Amino acid sequence: MEFRGKLILAPLAGITDRTFRLLCRENGADVTVTEMVSARGLLMQPARTARYLEYGEGERPVGAQLFGAIPEEMAEAAAEIRRLGFDFVDINMGCPVRKVTAGGAGAALLSHPPLAGKIVKAAVDAAGIPVTVKIRSGFGTEPDSYLPVASEVFGAGAAAVTLHPRTRGQMFSGTADWGQIERLKREFPDRVVIGNGDVRQPEDSWRMVSETGCDAVMIGRAALGNPWIFSAIRRGVAVAAGGGAPGTPDGPSPEARRTLILRHGEEMHRRHGEGGIREMRKHLAWYSRGIPGASAFRGHLVTVRTCDDFRSAVERFF
Ligand SMILES: Cc1cc2nc3c(=O)[nH]c(=O)nc-3n(C[C@H](O)[C@H](O)[C@H](O)COP(=O)(O)O)c2cc1C
Repeated sequence: MEFRGKLILAPLAGITDRTFRLLCRENGADVTVTEMVSARGLLMQPARTARYLEYGEGERPVGAQLFGAIPEEMAEAAAEIRRLGFDFVDINMGCPVRKVTAGGAGAALLSHPPLAGKIVKAAVDAAGIPVTVKIRSGFGTEPDSYLPVASEVFGAGAAAVTLHPRTRGQMFSGTADWGQIERLKREFPDRVVIGNGDVRQPEDSWRMVSETGCDAVMIGRAALGNPWIFSAIRRGVAVAAGGGAPGTPDGPSPEARRTLILRHGEEMHRRHGEGGIREMRKHLAWYSRGIPGASAFRGHLVTVRTCDDFRSAVERFF
């Protein structure tokens, strides 16, 4: 599978489910990946992880993200991901949440580069599909781990490394230091390096590629309420390739916006009933950003319970 030149939707727990991933895919994302799933959970309680591992054929190529700290478990879980039909496995080595790091997984692996390598080797040997790794720059407050960890995991056969250049200690504060992405690419010029962090506007994506030399760009929070960001990036690149400077491309028409939002909610309702509509509240809040009257609209979202409530809220506001 080729990751070079691709626009990738980042894994976002509680957000990037199959419905949202497909909307991003249809609007210009080349690759998507599930939110993180516990390798042990997948092996011991597959019914409980099933919802997180649903995908549709229209999403391909689609990966599944695993977290875990035990090579044998990660190998078995990676093989299961292949059996489920995914195109690649991504291993989470960046999650800062205590529940994950306390078990030695996620960002905790940044402190143990040889173990990170062992996990990737075990997964690569078992999976038979590409294995990628997503990291932060360090576990504490210093960006001291991304190079040794990348060295181990590339050596173990990782097909790509995504760097979100913040340390675990930073959580989401401060800014992503793209200089670290540039450094990583410089150290591993022949390997696939995916840049991630603080791409907010289409032009940030082009700037990330030109400043860091990264092979692909992964976008997370900027896609919330804005799955069109991927097509906007594409249009801008097309303009630039035609000799013009990449301007800021227009967003969707109000009608296209409304149609997509309705489809999003109707699909969530079809899959998850009124629970899906409740999940749509946060998406509606994101979709409303930047539109006059958004804060009053958000204030009313708690009353949106049924599919009819949802439809009338969308018709009224968007
Ligand atoms: C709500 C939320 C959930 C996230 N869940 C995951 C996850 O499941 N797996 C993962 O590797 N990263 C996760 N991340 C990190 C993102 O994938 C990404 O690395 C980070 O948000 C920086 O990229 P951005 O600035 O484009 O959002 C999450 C981030 C947020 C804000």
